[in-house]
Amino acid sequence: MTDYPIDMSVAPIVTPFFDPATHTISYVVRDPGSTACAVVDSVMDIDYAAGRITYDHADAIIAHIREHGLTLEWIIETHVHADHLSAAPYIQAALGGRIGIGDGIMVVQDTFGKIFNEGTEFQRDGSQFDALFKDGDVYHVGTMPVVALHTPGHTPACMTHVMGDAAFVGDTLFMPDGGSARADFPGGDAGVLYDSIQKVLSLPDATRLFMCHDYGPNGREIRWETTVAEERAHNIHVGGGKTRAEFVAFRTARDATLAVPQLIIPSLQVNMRAGVMPTDKDGRPMLKVPVNGL
Ligand SMILES: [Fe+2]
Repeated sequence: MTDYPIDMSVAPIVTPFFDPATHTISYVVRDPGSTACAVVDSVMDIDYAAGRITYDHADAIIAHIREHGLTLEWIIETHVHADHLSAAPYIQAALGGRIGIGDGIMVVQDTFGKIFNEGTEFQRDGSQFDALFKDGDVYHVGTMPVVALHTPGHTPACMTHVMGDAAFVGDTLFMPDGGSARADFPGGDAGVLYDSIQKVLSLPDATRLFMCHDYGPNGREIRWETTVAEERAHNIHVGGGKTRAEFVAFRTARDATLAVPQLIIPSLQVNMRAGVMPTDKDGRPMLKVPVNGL
């Protein structure tokens, strides 16, 4: 990874916020050299059956940032999540900051714009976001450089954000005993996911890896932090030198058995709009269900 300005001597302060409803971990990441911070993968609470949204999870993040006197510079989405709704615009309204995602968002918007039969008013150019990252782009949180690495396979827009000795991998990897995320969503590809995982595992051994999800396999407590060395040695799907062909065969067979995520229908409609609810012709927040359309 010598092409990228990765500085293992910079150790950002990472505060996790676990959402038990969706098993998502959101993070506040603070530049050790200033009061600047970023939020990675926030969650908006939804009771889908009731059509009701609330913001307890995001409010805890906002309170933390205010209590510590931090300046929010970036609100990062590692990808277009299919299992929870982003609270990025709610946090931005409270604290400022720019909302960023990988430029693969345009592929996702095109795919799901068709599935949800969105009209021409739905832009498919990523313009709902404040910044679109390309592979290898460098941006800053305060004084800390961040490298955005394109790590597709789970979805086309997936990126891993490397901040000093910490990397936020989204759904590219799970904890070693959790393996990897599914690769069967539209635009997903198990072989491409394997290549992206190898890219993450080529970071320095001691890199701290922060997961977007943990489901506590086999009844263990929820965990979200591991290292490149741990994943390379012990990840049950790719560790110990598993080949690309082995991974693709395993991942494809496993994905065929997985149920559709409970919140995929609201999540995609909201997250492909950078966390903004779609509206009906009268401007009221309104979600669609494409019957037999997914
Ligand atoms: Fe995901």
